[in-house]
Amino acid sequence: MTFNLTEEHLMIQKAARDFANDILKPGVIERDEHQTFPTEEIKQMGELGFLGMMVSTKYGGGGMDCISYVLAMEEISKVDASCSVVMSVNNSLVCWGLETFGTEEQKQKYLPRLATGQIIGAFCLSEPEAGSDATSQKTTALDKGDHYLLNGTKNWITNGGTASVYLVIAQTDAAKGHRGINALIVEKGMPGFVVGPKENKLGIRGSDTHSLMFTDVKVPKENRIGEDGFGFKFAMQTLTGGRIGIASQALGIASGAYELALAYSKQRKAFGKEINQHQIIQFKLADMATEIEAARLLCLKSAWLKDKHLDYVSASAMAKVFASEVAMKTTVEAVQIHGGYGFVKEYHVERLMRDAKITQIYEGTSEVQRIVISRALLA
Ligand code: CAA
Repeated sequence: MTFNLTEEHLMIQKAARDFANDILKPGVIERDEHQTFPTEEIKQMGELGFLGMMVSTKYGGGGMDCISYVLAMEEISKVDASCSVVMSVNNSLVCWGLETFGTEEQKQKYLPRLATGQIIGAFCLSEPEAGSDATSQKTTALDKGDHYLLNGTKNWITNGGTASVYLVIAQTDAAKGHRGINALIVEKGMPGFVVGPKENKLGIRGSDTHSLMFTDVKVPKENRIGEDGFGFKFAMQTLTGGRIGIASQALGIASGAYELALAYSKQRKAFGKEINQHQIIQFKLADMATEIEAARLLCLKSAWLKDKHLDYVSASAMAKVFASEVAMKTTVEAVQIHGGYGFVKEYHVERLMRDAKITQIYEGTSEVQRIVISRALLA
């Protein structure tokens, strides 16, 4: 057992940190304020390989391990969680799902462009009444011989407006329950596919979240991922890896807020000394650092299990539930340490606090993670 990162891991971590500070930081407050999608920044992330890190080189990806992905996700999320959610969905849900379960034709058609950011992807599971209870899909994909006829609505879809490729989960045969669900590749521009208005969100405001409407969309049979009825398991397995990405996003939000609070505590004076000379602030910083380190270890352990092809279902749920709760707690404390400055946008911590909340909600709420963990314990 070793806790050392390799030279390659350290290089990737540094490249992500430098990119985040040099390229993402300058415009992050404005993008959040105006809900501007980071088009140019995402393009550069694609060119640098951050959007297809784990895709094999054969399909134009970085061929890296999941540990590298966790390290890069943390660094990008410290500065701009709106960019890191695009990165997470594209890497873990779309690229990984396609490479692991897609046909050779599907991989060759989509992966080289997705992995380099020429196009981005979206993962479409949630519905108005099917978020946590993912088997209750109302969107239907009726089998019409050579194609599926897709009807229904998807909600809160990350990359909803900017994506070109959408992995859509839909019910083909309700009588079969979760075994009647399929995953289909839907392309923007297919007749009957309409993107709804952009959501006005509390956090990750630079990212692009939409409802999607499908009315009699004809999706060719060759766009189905896996065997007939594999869609639910496709979604579950893909989300299991996705949770490592979101756990790492939460970790980055927490460590970004902690670093800002630590730096501020060294410059701000109160009662005749730097505030970090007061024990109340020291204890807060100590708790923040301890919890962040624990979250980091959970993220890296689940990535390590995934890299070793061992079971990481429970580990990724533990990483996500813990890191997202640490993100929420740490960012609230970081605002508190900043006092009045923490409440204004220039100091970044209020944005990190708003961004933290979604990590407890998407890719499975904290309640869903606890279901996943307890089922593994009781199995
Ligand atoms: N890996 C492989 N198979 C799995 C699995 C996993 N992680 N989880 C479940 N399965 C299999 C089960 O073994 C079972 O198979 P069999 O019937 O063959 O034994 C089948 O799937 C059904 O499993 P369950 O009975 O456990 O299903 P359930 O209906 O009780 O649901 C749940 C379990 C964990 C609550 C699940 O519904 C879930 O994860 N819900 C949350 C979904 C979610 O994360 N939504 C977020 C939307 S996506 C998003 O946010 C993306 C974004 O934009 C950022």
